[in-house]
Amino acid sequence: SFNIVLATLVAYLIGSLSFAVIVSRLMGLRDPRTYGSNNPGATNVLRSGNKVAALLTLLLDAVKGYLPTLWAVHYGGPLGIGEGGAALVGLAAFVGHLFPVFFRFQGGKGVATAAGVLLGLDPWLGLGTLATWVIIAVFFRYSSLASLVAAVFAPFFQLLGWGAGPVLGAVIVMSMLLVWRHAANIRKLIEGKESKIGQKAAAPA
Ligand code: G3P
Repeated sequence: SFNIVLATLVAYLIGSLSFAVIVSRLMGLRDPRTYGSNNPGATNVLRSGNKVAALLTLLLDAVKGYLPTLWAVHYGGPLGIGEGGAALVGLAAFVGHLFPVFFRFQGGKGVATAAGVLLGLDPWLGLGTLATWVIIAVFFRYSSLASLVAAVFAPFFQLLGWGAGPVLGAVIVMSMLLVWRHAANIRKLIEGKESKIGQKAAAPA
């Protein structure tokens, strides 16, 4: 319906707010696209050494996935936006983060935003996936590895908890895009060159 198209478009625009870049700029920090992994995401902002900026990036990038999804889940029904429509709205926010219209379509890897979308779709789906991320992060200290493992698990949580359907389709697409965006990280993990959480980037030349 028209409402699904409109909500999807708005979610994409909200997802396009690259908070790693916005927060860094507002706080007078270097552009995260110029150091570390060059990724506009919370993990890379942490490499600047500024934990507050990293935390704000993480929260805001998650909220931009969470709010549109939660809105669609709770208020979409009467507007003709069903469960599948809400999943599409969440996917649109995620895609906005990866390909932001406001930042020349050069976005991030979608981890925080995906977490927000999953929490919005169902708190248990979100919390289960978040717990997976935390467990791997605590044991191995690699943000990317934790994200990759969580992305692999999320569709299984959705399938086991709520069965097959359009929401599962959206979760699978999100996970596949997320893994694809981590190609460089996978390479570094295999070569043993991935940086651990909190390891700072080299100072500018
Ligand atoms: O949040 C994205 C994370 O999984 C990897 O980020 O900067 O290490 O490529 P980064």
